[in-house]
Formats: sequence, structure tokens, C-alpha cells
Amino acid sequence: MEHIPVLLQESVRALNIKKNGTYIDGTFGLGGHSLAILKHLGPFGKLYAIDKDPYALKQGKKIIDSRFSLKYGNFSTQISSLIQKKNIDGILLDLGVSSIQLDIAERGFSFMKDGPLDMRMNPREGIPAWKWLKKTNKKKIEFILKAFGEEKYAKKISHAIVERNKKKIITRTLDLVEIIKRAIPKKDKYKHPATRTFQAIRIYINQEVEELKKTLNLAIKILKPKARLAIISFHSIESKIIKNCFKEHNHPLIIPRGLPITEKQIKKYEKKKIKIIKKIKPAYKETQINPRSRSAILRTAEILS
Ligand SMILES: C[S@@+](CC[C@H](N)C(=O)[O-])C[C@H]1O[C@@H](n2cnc3c(N)ncnc32)[C@H](O)[C@@H]1O
Repeated sequence: MEHIPVLLQESVRALNIKKNGTYIDGTFGLGGHSLAILKHLGPFGKLYAIDKDPYALKQGKKIIDSRFSLKYGNFSTQISSLIQKKNIDGILLDLGVSSIQLDIAERGFSFMKDGPLDMRMNPREGIPAWKWLKKTNKKKIEFILKAFGEEKYAKKISHAIVERNKKKIITRTLDLVEIIKRAIPKKDKYKHPATRTFQAIRIYINQEVEELKKTLNLAIKILKPKARLAIISFHSIESKIIKNCFKEHNHPLIIPRGLPITEKQIKKYEKKKIKIIKKIKPAYKETQINPRSRSAILRTAEILS
């Protein structure tokens, strides 16, 4: 599958790039967004790109540009150390998996290709999905499928997974797909039956929700005024987290009267931290060219103080 960066022009525009500014692309992937950011930067601009997938890092090494620097690891950790040390003008996060991660069957992300049930973006960290399913109880699996996949047949699927693991351990992606297909009573006309389960397990295995929450709060807390935070999300769980976090920092906190705090403290609490820029969805044309973009939403915030 050809890699087409999602909402490319829109996200670069959302960063409001200053020629000599310093930016972070927290999700380098195949570098589509990074290359576009570099095109907008002048000779004294700087771009730090991050990815926790060693394959992405290999791709990134092909970019020879003194303004570009690539970091390996979780974006929460890397962004935290970068914004504490540097003056950052904008951060871009294009969440989820890259097309190459989905394409390579051995990575275990795809429910369309047979491969080991791994799903780790960073295969050097954590445990593969099959191992987690093997050691986890029914209730926890059901909870994860509901929380991160909004799977209405979570109970039936988790039961089927645990029962099958008692007889023969599920180690392959297509094994899991078969189990899901047999467990669900009714198929959705528009979605592959394994979509929600695969999404949920992937989010859990890669700690995607924790990563996002940590990074959002940290970025809003310590980015400098006028810096931009632009995030592309692909499912409602991420989207809600971003929306709620932006809302929380966009409204002054109401402090009940009579609390023992000073005027100065009240002023600090009442200040808006961010301005929310209107969210953007891909144009119809983009969704036709790149079906993966259909569920994408770009949310942007500008730091105020
Ligand atoms: C959707 S792709 C990004 C595609 C990229 N914008 C492009 O145009 O090629 C997401 C990438 O982010 C990486 N990623 C996801 N979560 C991460 C995290 N918490 N820390 C570091 N990298 C992460 C994945 O490994 C993947 O390569």
C-alpha cells in the first residue's frame, strides 16, 4: 500500500510555521509530515522527529538535513525532555499506526494478513499481544475491548479467546480473526468483525491512551505562548480525550467563593491556557484517494499563556 500522509497541508498550516522556528513531529512514521514541515522551514529552523518504531527510525536516517534530528522512543518522554530544554514553536502528532506497520504481516497489526499476533509499535518493548491474551483473565480482556474498541460483543469475544487459549494458544492474527467471527452473533455491514478487537488490543499493548494524556497535559502546561499543538486522531476514544483536554484548558476554572486562596492565585486559575482552533476533517476528495483518512480529525490548540 502506498503511504499517503493524512491531512498533510491542513496540519502543516495548523502549525503556523515560523521560518526559523523549532518544531516536533512526535510520530515520524514514514516521514510524510516531517518532510512537509522541513519544506516550510528556513535555514535556521529546526525539526525534531520522534518514533518508537525502529523501522521508522531506519527510514528517517535517509533524511540528510542539518535542520532535522530524529529521536527514538515514546513521544511522551522525548517531547517532555525537548520542551524542557528547547524553545518549541509547535508539536504535531499523527496518531495510530502507519501504513507500513499495517502492510508488514510480521508486525501483527493487520486482520487481513496472517502474521504473529504481536502489535507492538516498538518490538523491543513490552509484550506481544498473544502473550498478553494468554496471561490475562476474561474480565480484563472484556474491559479492554469495551473501553478501547467500543466492542458491543466484548463479553462473547473475551470468553471465546480465553476458552480457545486453554486448548491451544492463539499466536496468529488470522486465528484471532476466526475466533472473533465465530463469537459474534451479528456482523456489521460496514465494518470487518475484527476491527474493534484489533484496535482495542493495539491501543492497550502500546499504551496509546496513557501516552496521549500525558503528552497533552505536559505540552499545554509547558509550551511557550503562541506555540501550536496539532493532533490528528483516527477514532472516537482519542478524539474525545483531545477534545476534553482542550476544553478544560480553554475555560477559566470556576473557583467557589470563600475558599482560602489569594487574589493572585485566583487570577492564575482563571486564565485561559489555550485557544482552540476549529477542527478539520479531510475533504471528500482526500477520503476518496486515501480511505484511511475517512475517520481522521485534526484538532489544534494555540498556547496563550
Ligand atoms: C500514523 S503514523 C505517522 C505517519 C507520518 N505522519 C507520516 O506521514 O509518515 C504514526 C507513527 O507514530 C508512531 N507512534 C505512535 N505512538 C507513538 C508513541 N507513543 N511514541 C512514539 N511513536 C509513536 C508509530 O510507530 C507510527 O510510526
